[in-house]
Amino acid sequence: MPKEDVAWYEKPEVKNLFIKASSNAMRGYHCVIAAPKLTFAGTNSLTDFINFTGMYLNEDERRVLIVVDKDLRKYGEMIGERLATLKQIDSKIFDNVLPDPPKFTIMEGVKLCEEYKPKLIIGIGGGSAIDTAKMIFVHYEQPNIDLNSVMAASYLGLRKKVKALAAMPTTSGTGSETTFIAVMTDTDRDPPRKTAVVLYEICPDFAILYPDFVKTMPESLALGTGMDALAHARGSYVLTMSHDFSDMCNLKAVEMILKWLPRSVKNKNDAEAREKMQMAAFIAGVGFGNVSGGIEHGLGHSLGALFHVHHGMAVGLYLCASIAYQSKVTNRFIQLAKILGVDTEGKQRDAILRELLGNLQAFLKNIGFPLGIKDLKVPVITKAEYMEKLDILAEFSANDFTSLSSSRRVTKDPYKRMALIAYENNMEELMDLFYN
Ligand SMILES: [Fe+2]
Repeated sequence: MPKEDVAWYEKPEVKNLFIKASSNAMRGYHCVIAAPKLTFAGTNSLTDFINFTGMYLNEDERRVLIVVDKDLRKYGEMIGERLATLKQIDSKIFDNVLPDPPKFTIMEGVKLCEEYKPKLIIGIGGGSAIDTAKMIFVHYEQPNIDLNSVMAASYLGLRKKVKALAAMPTTSGTGSETTFIAVMTDTDRDPPRKTAVVLYEICPDFAILYPDFVKTMPESLALGTGMDALAHARGSYVLTMSHDFSDMCNLKAVEMILKWLPRSVKNKNDAEAREKMQMAAFIAGVGFGNVSGGIEHGLGHSLGALFHVHHGMAVGLYLCASIAYQSKVTNRFIQLAKILGVDTEGKQRDAILRELLGNLQAFLKNIGFPLGIKDLKVPVITKAEYMEKLDILAEFSANDFTSLSSSRRVTKDPYKRMALIAYENNMEELMDLFYN
């Protein structure tokens, strides 16, 4: 098969198919629910997982590859030591994890696998480490794979070399410990391009939600990753492709994040809030991971690529605009409004949306989240700098895989409108996205 030079979701014919069939029709035709088969949570979760692994790996399979970044190598060493002393399991650490995992680092990990032949791969860290582990796993299993042409419903028969993939999050937001999505930077493309790989078989087999790993997260990271989790749950809930199971997860996650994120952000020693946010991010991961990220993710990915804004901050900045834009064609925002404390009884749709956005902005202000791109501190983006890249930002967004599942048709021009409005996130302009 000739090698594809663009990802499947960037092709015009695929976009047209999704738009014409609508996500509703796709849902009725095809819906798979994926999540780890075992999730260990709570203070004993790490011990539970090590005990389990001791029985899970046979005598001739006791080789584990631990994928972690250099800053968190100590966690990898601690787990490696416990595996060795408690269960006589050997391990090796791959610590060359970089943000927006470039393909060349993934291939270094694959080379290590070819020599070491691990039977279990454990990713420890934020999204980049867990995504790197997923991508090493895929490329090791199938060296000739062309990831641009595989989509969720491609079945590759992975796990012929590696028995299982495990994920231990150290931030509370990406949901990567439960999703079948991984993002890497395809350095074979010129210029290098972020590529999303969506494949059921890369959903981790085991997730370990060990609260100690999120207790030391700085408040700013708790804010950014917590907003990522909120964007996952809220953003995917309004997509028409969402279904009963994802609704259950997304609504619960929104409720938990609204309750626990303020405490988690304000005080890193609030162990209860940190543990609850870890679970909320996981639940949001199960929710959005089985639907899609919302279109705030398309815009957020693009802002991140152009201005190096933290992923969670970037997607959070477009949350209001993306909900307002889609609410024109769906009533899904009404349930969200109720969770945000809006009394919807007898009110017009626009009044409900206005209150929802108002309450959401009050929540953001309370946790110290910038209301618009103009308020962003890291980095500061001037209006002139933003306007200069608005066109390319809209174009990147239109080619993002999340565009396929928007409840309201979205192309480059509406993305440009949303992006422009998000600079200030002024209420009247947000409402204009709903009316027009
Ligand atoms: Fe995200």
